[in-house]
Amino acid sequence: MQDRILILDFGSQYTQLIARRVREAGVYSEIYAGDLDHQQIRNFNPSGIILSGGPESAFIDDAPRAASEIFDMGIPILGICYGMQVMAEQLGGRVKPSTHREFGYAEVNIDSTNKLFRGIEVENNCLEVWMSHGDVVENLPEGFVVNGTSNNSPAAAMANDETCFYGLQFHPEVTHTNKGQVIIENFVHSICECGKDWTPGNIIEKDINNIRKEVGDDQVLLGLSGGVDSSVVAALLHKAIGDQLTCIFVDNGLLRLNEGDQVMEVFSKHMSLNVIRVNAEQIFLDKLVGVEDPEEKRKIIGNTFIEVFEEQASKLSKVKWLAQGTIYPDVIESAGAKTGKAHVIKSHHNVAGLPENMTLKLIEPLRDLFKDEVRVIGKELGLPSELVERHPFPGPGLGVRILGEVKKEYADLLRLADSIFIEELFSNDLYHQISQAFSVFLPVRSVGVMGDGRKYDYVIALRAVETSDFMTANWAKLPYDFLDHVSTRIINEVEGISRVTYDISGKPPATIEWE
Ligand code: XMP
Repeated sequence: MQDRILILDFGSQYTQLIARRVREAGVYSEIYAGDLDHQQIRNFNPSGIILSGGPESAFIDDAPRAASEIFDMGIPILGICYGMQVMAEQLGGRVKPSTHREFGYAEVNIDSTNKLFRGIEVENNCLEVWMSHGDVVENLPEGFVVNGTSNNSPAAAMANDETCFYGLQFHPEVTHTNKGQVIIENFVHSICECGKDWTPGNIIEKDINNIRKEVGDDQVLLGLSGGVDSSVVAALLHKAIGDQLTCIFVDNGLLRLNEGDQVMEVFSKHMSLNVIRVNAEQIFLDKLVGVEDPEEKRKIIGNTFIEVFEEQASKLSKVKWLAQGTIYPDVIESAGAKTGKAHVIKSHHNVAGLPENMTLKLIEPLRDLFKDEVRVIGKELGLPSELVERHPFPGPGLGVRILGEVKKEYADLLRLADSIFIEELFSNDLYHQISQAFSVFLPVRSVGVMGDGRKYDYVIALRAVETSDFMTANWAKLPYDFLDHVSTRIINEVEGISRVTYDISGKPPATIEWE
């Protein structure tokens, strides 16, 4: 079994980032609830444990704690922020409210000879870090020394080199902390002595072996959407089981310009996958006639997808497995599946609600992977980078980007406008600088003038955002000249559009999609 790091989550908004950073260092990691039972911790067999930050105060009576047995396992432990404070309390030290709460940038004077900070060369040993706390460790537990101080935290870092227990008042996992990744690497490599075996090549090999073992000679079905996750599952399964995989691609008429043809081109033609394309535009559009409510539209699109999908699946005999592109954030976010903590519950699904009486067994090969890992694997498996690096596209497609009733006429106008916006983002090297961009169709008409004629046509809103997790987002400050050019092109080239606006709302309070 490979070396692995266990992350115990006390509710910090950065816990997922810790897992990502550890994996970026080439070491497998998983997140579990902070109070995970010690037997389960032993079963996980970690080479080291990281205690995450969290919103509580470690000195209150019912403060969440880690199983006390972890301190007797003889493995290294790193406590971050609340994780440091709870470790201090559990080992006999004392935490108290800070007289000066520290949020944001701070400077920490580090002892660069300490194992955790080895190799960090900063002027005057002064490290710029990201702090977010209201409490400080007042008395260190026995055996610990201070290896970092800041103006407001006499113990901004603490270490016991003998037991290999370390605490950091700041957050090495956020990019604002200078050399944060070096600290994580020192912990997992030098201190926990983990090898670098979590690499895309190894992940693919391990997954392929597992899939072959699990599936045997059975047939597997996959709903292919053309999005990153399902595409990578398709490529991975194809490599593992070849012709035993059949993909169903439902063209619901709510896709982007030429998207259906592109998906078929990549998967059917170039990669020789079995892909059944179902042209179901009319079925979807018929069901959406007269429906204006966004939630109702979502439900109709989701249910229709399942109907069409099931009908196709029923024609295939001997299928025993249904593959899905579920990824690790979906697992963590779905009702706190593993951690039981108050994570945001996401209502987005790849397949919008599976039938309860489903007889197919589920196979989810990307369940343990973050999006960036999925992308790397996709590229290794030979998927074109345009596909792998694509911005997210919602399951209900243009259905949530046409406000009010969905009509083919509107979808066609939106597709044309959007393709101009995206094409211009690419040709101006802006596409990869933002997290997501798209156009929205507003079913209101507005007066314009073109040549000598009066126009009375529809409105397109452009949306572009920057975000790291899609839970919050800032609107992208695209250059005025660029917006001017896109707007001119859309109004000139898309007959039926007389006005273009740019959305300058952040999330919150707005969401990314308009719905
Ligand atoms: P909102 O609009 O909630 O969107 O701020 C956050 C992110 O999720 C995407 N999104 C979806 N993705 N199925 C998906 O797979 C959906 O039903 C869905 N709805 C929104 C949205 O594009 C953005 O990236």
